Parts: sequence; structure tokens; C-alpha cells
Amino acid sequence: MNTTDAWIRERTGIVKRHIAADDETTLDLAEAAARQALDAAGLQSNDIDLIVVATTTPDCVFPSVACLLQQRLGVTNSSPAFDVQAVCAGFAYALSVADNFIRAGSSTTALVIGAETFSRILNWEDRNTCVLFGDGAGAVILEASNEPGVLSTHLHADGRYAELLHVPNGVSRGYDVVQQQEAFVQMRGNEVFRMAVRKLQEVVVETLAVNNLDKSEIDWLVPHQANIRIIAATAKKLDMGMEKVVVTVHDHGNTSAASIPLALDTAVRDGRIKRGEKLLLEGFGGGFTWGSALIQY
Ligand code: UT7
Repeated sequence: MNTTDAWIRERTGIVKRHIAADDETTLDLAEAAARQALDAAGLQSNDIDLIVVATTTPDCVFPSVACLLQQRLGVTNSSPAFDVQAVCAGFAYALSVADNFIRAGSSTTALVIGAETFSRILNWEDRNTCVLFGDGAGAVILEASNEPGVLSTHLHADGRYAELLHVPNGVSRGYDVVQQQEAFVQMRGNEVFRMAVRKLQEVVVETLAVNNLDKSEIDWLVPHQANIRIIAATAKKLDMGMEKVVVTVHDHGNTSAASIPLALDTAVRDGRIKRGEKLLLEGFGGGFTWGSALIQY
């Protein structure tokens, strides 16, 4: 392919990424992340009364990854389980849905996962996309509490931009077997880049305003990991030094819905993020969809 390691590092910040083994699926990655989250929270499977999986690369048309995962984990309490599809903003969407279930009193303990095998929808001959994406999964557990936790979530979409970043066919339109590229990600990268910067800047300003917070009160930015230059632009808008930004794009590439929980997990486990700190999560993806969450960890 006509590309270089130097171009990829310089234009994206990606140094390495992970590709699922041939016999591994999104469900396998989701299960591994879910089990780590259950361990970290000291919970048993049947404590979970809601599973929301953010994914654009499910194992099957149906059942959802969430239902398959419920069975894998041995959750037998008949609680709801479903997938949310908002591509790279998927984790923000799933977190918001679970938070609202808890706020409404419908759930007490929610397992929220971002899991993707984007490698399966890449055209490995398209240098505009195939150098960017990787596979992975990350999970969090939300519990009902009187203590502050998810302070607010903010979701947006604008379907007018659908064709700038899409897999243009699917179940209902059918797959064009002659034009195989129709089953793979297509992106007008530069236009997506500019819109991502603009909409992420807007949503972080919105998040601060709704919470009556000053920029300086955010301890950590935990952004979607698409491109180091998009991340840096959002940090600049917040007047945050990069030492306050969790960056994993060099290790994971763009894992779509998995990227925010993978970044969060990395910084919690290495001790950077501490209890009580304020985290601003944000993501932008196909649709377009974008969103944020302000969290007191
Ligand atoms: O996660 C969901 C949202 N997705 C994103 O946020 C991705 C947003 N987009 C991006 O991150 C960037 O637009 C890319 C990394 C995809 C591309 O970077 P860019 O700085 O916007 O490059 P460009 O598209 O403007 O292309 C610059 C040049 C072009 O060549 P010419 O026309 O200047 O001769 C491209 O053909 O770089 C060329 N190019 C490449 N060269 C080597 C594009 N892809 C490659 C490649 N290797 N893989």
C-alpha cells in the first residue's frame, strides 16, 4: 500500500493497534471487558440489571451483542439488554441511556460496554481508512447512588452528513457483491476532521455551561481516540495541557465505540484518574453523531 509509518504517526498519532484474531468476535471482546469491570466493581453477574452495548460491528443481525453477552455472563434475572448503534459516539450514547435508566428508577446496576471489530468492515486497499481503525472493548458499571457520578450527558446527531462517513450498504439495502467496497467504511477524512473539531468544541462548551463549571475545574479530558490532532484541538479549547488529556490513540488507533472506555480504563488502572475527580468524556462519529458526559468519578 502506498503509505508510510511516518505519515500515519504524523497525521493521526497512531503507532500501533490491535486486530481481533480470526476466531474472535465483538462478543468475545465485550465479554473480556465485562468480566474485568465486574471484577473491578466486586460484583456478580446477577447484580447487573441492565446491559447496554455500544457497537456498530455486532456478531449477528440479531440477537444483539448485549443479549448474547447476557447469556455468556450467566445473567439470569431477565433484565433488559440491548445494543446502541452510534458508531464512534456510541459509548457516549450508551452511557447516557444507562444513566437515564438509573435516574428514572428503572435500573440500579448497569453494565455499559463499547465493543468493536472495525477491522471486519475495513477495505484493506483503501489507505484513507484502513490505517486508522482497530478492534477492542471497554466496559464500565454504573450503580444507583445518592453520591454524584454522571453529572450530565449531551447527545447530538445530524443526519445530513451521513455520506461523509459510512458503510453505504447493509441488511435492508443488500450488499453489492460486485462492488465489495460497498460493505466497508468509506470516509471523506478531511471534511470529517473539520466537523469533528467544530462539534466537539461546541459540545464541551455546552457541557461546561449546563454544569456552570469553569474550564479549570475539569481534571481530565477522556476523548474519543480518532486522531491526536482532533484531541489536541479540543484540549486547546478547554485550555488544558496535554498532561491532563488521556491519550491512547498511539496504542489502540480508532476503536470507535470502544475508544473512550479503553482510555478511561487505562488512566484509572495506571492511577492517573482518582476518585472524586471530574472527567469530561466526548466522542464524534458517523451519522454524524456526537456527545459528551461529565462525570465525577
Ligand atoms: O472516529 C470517527 C471520526 N473520524 C475521524 O475523526 C477521522 C477524521 N479525519 C482524520 O483524522 C484525517 O482527516 C485523516 C487522518 C483521515 C487524514 O488526514 P488529513 O491530514 O486530513 O489528510 P488529507 O485527507 O487532507 O490528505 C492529505 C494527503 C493527501 O494527499 P495529497 O492530495 O495532498 O497529495 C492524501 O491522499 O495525504 C494523503 N493520504 C495519505 N498518504 C499516505 C491520505 N491517506 C494517506 C495514507 N498514507 N494512509
